[in-house]
Amino acid sequence: MTTDGVHKPAVAAVIGGGVIGGGWVARLIQNGVNVQVFDPDPEAPRKIITIIENADHALARLTMAPPPARGSLNFASSIAEAVATAELIVEAVPERLEVKQAVYAEIELAADNNVIISSSTSGIMPSDLQAKMNRPDKLMVGHPFNPVYLLPLVEMVGGKQTSHETIRRAGEIYRAIGMNPLHLRKEIEAFVADWFLEAVWREALWLVKDGIATTAEIDDAIRYGFGLRWAQMGLFETYRVAGGEAGMAHFIAQFGPCLKWPWTKLMDVPELTDELVEKISSQSDAQSGNHSIRELERIRDNNLVAIMQALKANDWGAGKTLANWEATLYNAIPAARKTDYKKPLETLRRSVPADWTDYNGHMNEARYLDCFSHATDMFMRMCGVDAAYVAAGGSYFTVETHIQHLDEVKAGAEVHITTQILAGAGKKLHLFHRLYEGEKRLLATGEHMLLHVDMNTRASSLPTEGVAIKVASFVDGHAGLPKPDGAGRAIGVR
Ligand SMILES: NC(=O)c1ccc[n+]([C@@H]2O[C@H](COP(=O)([O-])OP(=O)(O)OC[C@H]3O[C@@H](n4cnc5c(N)ncnc54)[C@H](O)[C@@H]3O)[C@@H](O)[C@H]2O)c1
Repeated sequence: MTTDGVHKPAVAAVIGGGVIGGGWVARLIQNGVNVQVFDPDPEAPRKIITIIENADHALARLTMAPPPARGSLNFASSIAEAVATAELIVEAVPERLEVKQAVYAEIELAADNNVIISSSTSGIMPSDLQAKMNRPDKLMVGHPFNPVYLLPLVEMVGGKQTSHETIRRAGEIYRAIGMNPLHLRKEIEAFVADWFLEAVWREALWLVKDGIATTAEIDDAIRYGFGLRWAQMGLFETYRVAGGEAGMAHFIAQFGPCLKWPWTKLMDVPELTDELVEKISSQSDAQSGNHSIRELERIRDNNLVAIMQALKANDWGAGKTLANWEATLYNAIPAARKTDYKKPLETLRRSVPADWTDYNGHMNEARYLDCFSHATDMFMRMCGVDAAYVAAGGSYFTVETHIQHLDEVKAGAEVHITTQILAGAGKKLHLFHRLYEGEKRLLATGEHMLLHVDMNTRASSLPTEGVAIKVASFVDGHAGLPKPDGAGRAIGVR
């Protein structure tokens, strides 16, 4: 376990580095877990690096929270080497029972007896997966969703021999790496999500086969309407609302009878003839062929990020998972960082996403303030003004801001902010942020005056003694620093 208090493995092994294994690798290293991957395909490292690039692109947009020190990545030459020191083993090899069972046999020869083996299978029953194992209690299904580095759901399914402790520990690990584990009480093939999705997929294939709708029309029917509802409320809550004031019972009374009408093909599966496959793929080419898969992945990820951020602002669904994960990242920081009170503090480090830039190719003005406000938040946290302090009724409000734009900030720039405190007595907090590219190139400064406020009366008030002492430590430490160039300057004065 890591030292930051969350239940993450120090080392994880990922066996199988395709679409899903690569996604696990990315999520794990971004969360500070060292990863050992084994995949016999010589192309696997290249593919995994591409997935990590996508994941980093997404993470740069997803959150301003400071990520933990990145985990290392090693391509092992055998399963034995990959699992030797692992505290979690993620299996993501092809969806064939005999391939997975052969992998578990190799794992059991080399891994620690206590290590959890989590299969990414989309639908094989865990009882079948564990049937030939020596330590079947450690095997479970942890079914993720593509892209694993962004989507928080992981369905946890135990087999007949899986221990409760295995499920409990895995749940802690998944939560610590930003996921939302859903423990299914009973094992069924395909679990809940794919059970459900397969029915939808089957019906969509019929609609194409019967010439009722094209692939593009079916996708439009989803994404312009009920798909948006599903992303935030799922099925039952959406239908409850659709029932109007009378709610779910009324909805069922109104629409229940039509379930018996022959609206769907139910269990019939269309024969995947060459003709049908050709029809689907040519329609799909016409629909999306102007984009490469890489472009589609980026479009998908940018949209997912935007949806998750909107849900976070509403404290809802997948946005709540994002907020909880960010809280653990913020909480880990002061403990992890050794504070040197005599120097400006680093309060933000990130790269500049391409969609932060405007028509001049520069970072948009709003983003400067966004970065400086996150730097201020980080400084406040380091003074003890964290979520608990705010919930208890105290905070600082910004009352004045002055930003100087000194040099061009372009997409992809690796930037960081340092914060110097100019004054901090009583209710006032006077901060001066410097935004740098690399270690030396000064891009901008942000000067802010904040006032401590009682959140109940909304009037200015003194901070608690604990916060005042921490603020004073920074004021004393920074007292010897030269006054920053531009501090106190009014607009237009150079
Ligand atoms: N693709 C999805 O959307 C999705 C979603 C959730 C779960 N899953 C499940 O994840 C698992 C992997 O699926 P995928 O889509 O990543 O497949 P994939 O074909 O992209 O990747 C499988 C990888 O396993 C490697 N491999 C084959 N034999 C191996 C062995 N003996 N040891 C180590 N590596 C081996 C292959 O070289 C390949 O890189 C499957 O069980 C699948 O059902 C897939």
